[in-house]
Amino acid sequence: MEIRSHDILLVGGGGAGLRAAIAAAEVNPKLSIAVVSKVYPMRSHTVSAEGGAAGVAKPDDSLDEHAYDTISGGDWMCDQDAVEAFVKEAPQELLRLERWGCPWNREPDGHIAVRAFGGMKKKRTWFAADKTGFHMLHTLFQTSLKYQPITRYDEWFVTKLLVDDGRVQGVVAIDVMSGKIQAITAKAVIVCTGGCGRIFPFTTNANIKNGDGMALVQRAGTPLKDMEFLQYHPTGLPFTGILITEAARAEGGYMINKDGYRYLQDYNLGTPQAKPVLRSMELGPRDRLSQAFVKEDQKGRTVKTEYGSVVHLDLRHLGEKLINAKLPFVRELCMKYENIDPVNELIPVRPVVHYMMGGVSTDINGATSLGGLFAAGEVACVSINGANRLGSNSLTECLVFGARAGRAAAEFAVGQKMPNGRVLAQATDEQKRLEQQYLHKSGGQERIATLRDEMQKAVESGAGIYREQSTLSQAGNKLRELQERYANISLDDHSQTFNTELTSALELGYMLDVAQSIVECALHRTESRGAHQRTDFPERDDQRFLAHSLVRRNSDGSLKVDYLPVKITRWPPGERVYGQEEKPKDGIKQAG
Ligand code: FUM
Repeated sequence: MEIRSHDILLVGGGGAGLRAAIAAAEVNPKLSIAVVSKVYPMRSHTVSAEGGAAGVAKPDDSLDEHAYDTISGGDWMCDQDAVEAFVKEAPQELLRLERWGCPWNREPDGHIAVRAFGGMKKKRTWFAADKTGFHMLHTLFQTSLKYQPITRYDEWFVTKLLVDDGRVQGVVAIDVMSGKIQAITAKAVIVCTGGCGRIFPFTTNANIKNGDGMALVQRAGTPLKDMEFLQYHPTGLPFTGILITEAARAEGGYMINKDGYRYLQDYNLGTPQAKPVLRSMELGPRDRLSQAFVKEDQKGRTVKTEYGSVVHLDLRHLGEKLINAKLPFVRELCMKYENIDPVNELIPVRPVVHYMMGGVSTDINGATSLGGLFAAGEVACVSINGANRLGSNSLTECLVFGARAGRAAAEFAVGQKMPNGRVLAQATDEQKRLEQQYLHKSGGQERIATLRDEMQKAVESGAGIYREQSTLSQAGNKLRELQERYANISLDDHSQTFNTELTSALELGYMLDVAQSIVECALHRTESRGAHQRTDFPERDDQRFLAHSLVRRNSDGSLKVDYLPVKITRWPPGERVYGQEEKPKDGIKQAG
């Protein structure tokens, strides 16, 4: 087996991974840094982010207000020390990106333009039309090219973290082009592999988002945090799940039901007549909007299509000029994928899985409980997003916590010894496992696509927008059955070059692990909070559950859930209020 060695190894080449690589290179140009990515970095899912990145930019806004919106939006599950660091470093990171070439939209007077976004009570979302992720990722990628110590392993698929002596010491990866299985050792590893939306049937997430990093880290003995908190975005296209950005609503789009009525006014989200600052409505938080869709559907006020119920997003009153200037991608997506022109037609939309609030449990610098192992971006749970992330916080999260993890890993790597021989023996074992379990095996009865389909249906019906004991238990039983059947798959393709059947099989294994963690955490949390809504426990229960779930995988494959207190610094738990005047309570530090 070929072995390569670096000081720091990034797994994942999206926004968080590239930002972390640059940060590590800046701390210490002598470090050898590698970015391993299963796709070319420019094909990472960051590229498809649309609406924008949050950071205070205007004098009428403040860091405290950004923090408070984030914390109340997250239904008080956010660690407030992490949120405070986040809002403080957000504007600095966004400005840094501009210096590196990111073409942020500007006002006619030259100031940075910011738009409103869901759950943000001030305009603070920086944007580059509705292709923000595309421009941010290009900026990070081209900047990363300046740093000589950064080596890239594009289209290498990681199958295992190598752990010995209480710390991570590298990975085993398949070079997808040649099919060679190789070890890459390192003194520190940063996992930045994004989320896991593909576990569900309708998602905005690219095919590559399979929870790889979450499963790898959990298999290495490190816990995942808050996995029950999974975000549905209220406006995905039916069937494809393609995202129609919240920016469409920020620019003034309406959500209407089958009667053409702006139904969100019926769900405690403000009214069309309210003062603009209080008129949340379409710009309420995503959990509440997705829940309102379900209620509207139950009342029979949605439109039935062959791809399920939908409501409509109405942009017609915005006019062609604004749509072309601010929402060109929305128009292009609607024309290409729905054959409609939003300038004069309604867009059918439904809630689709978009983002995982939970993930690898890390501290404020991205460090996990395993020595030398860090995580940042959507794969991680720092946790600034709590029970419901606000739109546009995640791109900035990739920058702030990518940079923090990169710097922390650079400091950790100095003084560490190079990995030892035991690690190489583990790598050889992993090669044998891949050969025996997949490449050289035949006669298995199960198909990857069948199992994936059954998994997606099980989690959607068992752990969707609303859950309860019976649906979750059913999903849990189904996932256990699928894990057993997974052992009985075999591949048709035994070749080496670009064996995407092999990588699909490995991805399915990751997804099954992550799906089980989601369901297990959701079963244990007998309360409703943010995106986790239990119909059998409809109230928030701060007495018992103002705590993060930590889920570990035992060696027999069973899961164990523990709890960790949420860090409250300045904002004790309060009520989430949208579309009305907030009434400050004693002891609650209100923003502003
Ligand atoms: O709607 C959007 O553009 C999504 C943004 C986000 O998830 O932050």
